[in-house]
Amino acid sequence: MVTPLTPVITEHWDRPNLYTLDGYRAVGGYQGLDKALGSDPDDIITTVKDAGLRGRGGAGFPTGLKWSFVPQGDGKPHYLVVNADESEPGACKDIPIMMANPHALIEGVIITSFAIRANHAFIYIRGEVPNAVRKVEFAVKQAREAGLIGKNIKGSGFDLDVVVHSGAGAYICGEETALLDSLEGYRGQPRLKPPFPAVAGLYSSPTVINNVETIANIPYIVDRGVEWFRGFGTEKSPGFKVFAVSGHVKRPGIYEAPLGITMRELLDYAGGMRDGSSVKFWLPGGSSVPMLTDEHLDLPLTYEAMAEAGTMLGTGTPMVFDQTVSVVKAVTRWLEFYKHESCGKCTPCREGTYWITGVLEKFEHGQGQQAEMETLTDLCGQIAGRSFCALGDAAATPYPAAMKYFREEFEASTHTSADEQFDPIASYVFAAAGVR
Ligand SMILES: Cc1cc2nc3c(=O)[nH]c(=O)nc-3n(C[C@H](O)[C@H](O)[C@H](O)COP(=O)(O)O)c2cc1C
Ligand code: SF4
Repeated sequence: MVTPLTPVITEHWDRPNLYTLDGYRAVGGYQGLDKALGSDPDDIITTVKDAGLRGRGGAGFPTGLKWSFVPQGDGKPHYLVVNADESEPGACKDIPIMMANPHALIEGVIITSFAIRANHAFIYIRGEVPNAVRKVEFAVKQAREAGLIGKNIKGSGFDLDVVVHSGAGAYICGEETALLDSLEGYRGQPRLKPPFPAVAGLYSSPTVINNVETIANIPYIVDRGVEWFRGFGTEKSPGFKVFAVSGHVKRPGIYEAPLGITMRELLDYAGGMRDGSSVKFWLPGGSSVPMLTDEHLDLPLTYEAMAEAGTMLGTGTPMVFDQTVSVVKAVTRWLEFYKHESCGKCTPCREGTYWITGVLEKFEHGQGQQAEMETLTDLCGQIAGRSFCALGDAAATPYPAAMKYFREEFEASTHTSADEQFDPIASYVFAAAGVR
């Protein structure tokens, strides 16, 4: 059976005025808020828990459970922070949501803040997308003028202020604790956990941090109910997902479908591969998740099936590469990205990404040495699980995954000379200095 597309967040994207308050209300917008304000905040948390919504920012953490960690009655201010920093290579779904349907996000922000008893919410948007910043600022302004943000919202006694904050273009500021430091005005570097943000986050107060798509799901769940939401997807991955397909397909773009759709089905929706192309490798959700091959096209795109296949659903934004792409080059480009974006706080990631990139660049130019393939494996092993934050783990992911399926490409990128002695230290130094 072919899984149908299920437009929910994207349902009315062809309406030119959907981004306005009137446009959103015309398609049932803010009905979820009315229901939420008439209920007990704890019941909303239970609803989201029962729905089984999992965070769409990459890790897939259960959203309702995260909200329930916020201590209630602690006398401290609570905060909601929306992570709209979307900078992962290949990820492009939060920015389109903010551009086309910003009020779904704003309604989600109001309902979530009400549920976790937060009177201040922040939306931290990637700095390079001023259009999205403007769209969200406009939606906040309209919501404020309509009394949906501010004091005593709709006579409920609930007060909420929403601040739109533009980042300055650092991938690390998408890491939730680096984001908090950046929001507080410090250099964006990750914090030690625990304490987790739900207990000590923004200004050391309980803070929920959720992805744009996660929060944009909330109005629909509250309005239409748990059973409706669980009618999509699987038991462990309920609901639908805004998949953003990119790469060598005929129609790259946004395809919203139930979790559990296969990559082959998504490829069909995306018009198939471009003429003369076939799938060589693909990544289910950004450059930070291990690659798969054409053998995996019929696996359901769920958190559990992707984990079983040795990868992750991640951001659910598949990148598809055809036979014209060199795996060695692709991995080198990603490592250059991680090296550039490493914040430098911890040694394994700061030094490791630098060294790995240098060695990979030798392979890219056909100048790798056989023994350096093991050196790269070793370097990745020294970063994964030993870095301060998940950026380090992400940087250590592409090479081992590529070696699993395309070892021969790295072998073909070596030059072997019988009398050449391999010296790992010299190799690093030369590689880092750009000497081939
Ligand atoms: C380097 C790095 C960058 C990240 N960038 C983002 C991002 O741009 N947007 C996002 O929602 N989550 C990002 N995350 C994940 C967040 O730390 C966090 O898990 C997420 O915002 C939680 O939201 P969710 O539970 O709704 O998924 C990033 C993580 C790391 C390590
Ligand atoms: S893993 Fe990398 S990005 Fe994360 S704290 Fe360490 S140096 Fe910074």
